[in-house]
Amino acid sequence: MPTKSRQSSGRFPALGVLCSGQGTNLQAILDAARTGRLRARVAVVISDRADAPALARAKRAGVPASFVDPKAYAGREAYDRALIERLERAGVRVVCLAGFMRMLSPRFIRHFRGRVLNIHPALLPAFPGAQAIHDALAWGAKVTGVTVHLADEQIDHGPIILQEAVPIAPGETQATLLAKLHRVEHRVYPQAIQTLLDGRAAVRGRRVGIRRAPR
Ligand code: GAR
Repeated sequence: MPTKSRQSSGRFPALGVLCSGQGTNLQAILDAARTGRLRARVAVVISDRADAPALARAKRAGVPASFVDPKAYAGREAYDRALIERLERAGVRVVCLAGFMRMLSPRFIRHFRGRVLNIHPALLPAFPGAQAIHDALAWGAKVTGVTVHLADEQIDHGPIILQEAVPIAPGETQATLLAKLHRVEHRVYPQAIQTLLDGRAAVRGRRVGIRRAPR
């Protein structure tokens, strides 16, 4: 009889992952949950793009995944109500934005306040937005990095859970820098999710104190 994978184990808290693209961060979360490095299960994946490869990754892992078409809703609020409904139906404790390239409404943020994580390929507040890697290279920065933060009402803005620096080498291209940043993202995003799930992130205004994980 096939053994039940850890990812499918119902006793772990449920995550909802929102994606728009490749879904390599989604894959890192799925892999971490499968191997037990992350004590959580991905309960639902939603994309705002029909052709997002992230949807196929979710399906391969046996996770319910759907394209929710923004054009089918009257506006951002109505769209986000549909997202909230799907995430609640799946019993989601924490929402992970993994390359979800839509701004969330204040209503969505209020609903899941303190429970929405975002990952960004720069050391915020430097280089927010959708072109962070291009912008860091164009600026001539010598160092960039990865930020995982709680989402708030502004783009790439909320309190920071963790950051890791990545040096920009001479001759670095967008492709080589993307690969370096992804390696870091795929390692730190599951860590940040676990920190939040464990209740080890104490948020005071913009500052987040992190308690170390028990050994
Ligand atoms: C990731 O690099 C993530 O940091 C970035 O989108 C990429 C998604 O890649 N997010 C942002 O730029 C948010 N402003 P993935 O689909 O392969 O995980």
